[in-house]
Amino acid sequence: MKLVKVKNYDQMSEQACDIVLDRINNLKKPVLGLATGSTPEGLYKQLINKYTNKETSFNNVTTFNLDEYIGLSHSHPNSYYTYMNEHLFNYIDIDSKNVNIPNGNVSDILKECSDYEKVISEHGSIDVQLLGLGSNGHIGFNEPGTPFSSRTHIVQLSESTRQANARFFESVDEVPTKAITMGIRTIMESNEIVVLVSGLKKSMALANLINGEVSEEFPASILQKHKNVTIIADEPALSKL
Ligand code: GLP
Repeated sequence: MKLVKVKNYDQMSEQACDIVLDRINNLKKPVLGLATGSTPEGLYKQLINKYTNKETSFNNVTTFNLDEYIGLSHSHPNSYYTYMNEHLFNYIDIDSKNVNIPNGNVSDILKECSDYEKVISEHGSIDVQLLGLGSNGHIGFNEPGTPFSSRTHIVQLSESTRQANARFFESVDEVPTKAITMGIRTIMESNEIVVLVSGLKKSMALANLINGEVSEEFPASILQKHKNVTIIADEPALSKL
C-alpha cells in the first residue's frame, strides 16, 4: 500500500482529485467507484471546479456507488442518490445512463444485489474505487464480521455506524437499520483503490488498516492484500501511526 501523507483535509482532497483526473483524462472509458459521507465532499467540489474550468469532462465516465440505505426513496434528502446529485452529478456533464447507485427502495433487494454485480461485471471492472473509512473499519457499509468473499449484499448497520451517521438525520432513530453495499470481494476486484482518511476520529482505524492483522473483524484490513492501494491521510488521521 502506498501512503500519501498530507497536512489537512483540503490537501487530501487535492491529491485525490489529481489521481481521479489523471484516470478520467487517460482512460478510454473510465469506470469510477464512488463513496459518500463527509470525507469525499472536498474531492467532489474540486472535480466540479475542474469541470467548470474545462479541464475535464465526465461524458465518457461510468460510476458505481458503493452503497445505499434500504428504505429511503431516491428523493429522500438523506439517500445517497440525493447526496450524489447534490455533491457531484448535478454540476457535471455525466450521462445519467452511466450512473449506477444501488436502489435500496425496491421490493426485491436480493435481485437488486445480483443485478448490481452483473452490471459491474459487464463493465469489466472498476478502474478506480474511492473509499472512506468507518471508525470501526467498515468500507462501503461492510461492517465488522462481513466475509471477505462477500459480493453486493444487504447489511444490518451496527449501532456505532448509525450513531456516526446520525449527524445527517434529525435523530438517530431516523437512520435506517439496513443498507445495500458492494461486497468486500467486489471492492477488492477494482484495479485501483484510493482510500481517503481525515481527522483524529479516524486515527485508530487508520493505524489498524495499515498495521493491524488482516481480519474480517476489521474489514478495511483486507486492503493490505490489494496490489494497487493508495491511502491519502491528513496529519490528525496519521497521529496514531
Ligand atoms: C459511511 C459510508 C461509507 C463511508 C464511511 C465514512 O457510513 N457508508 O461509504 O466511507 O461511512 O463516512 P465519513 O466520510 O462521513 O466519515
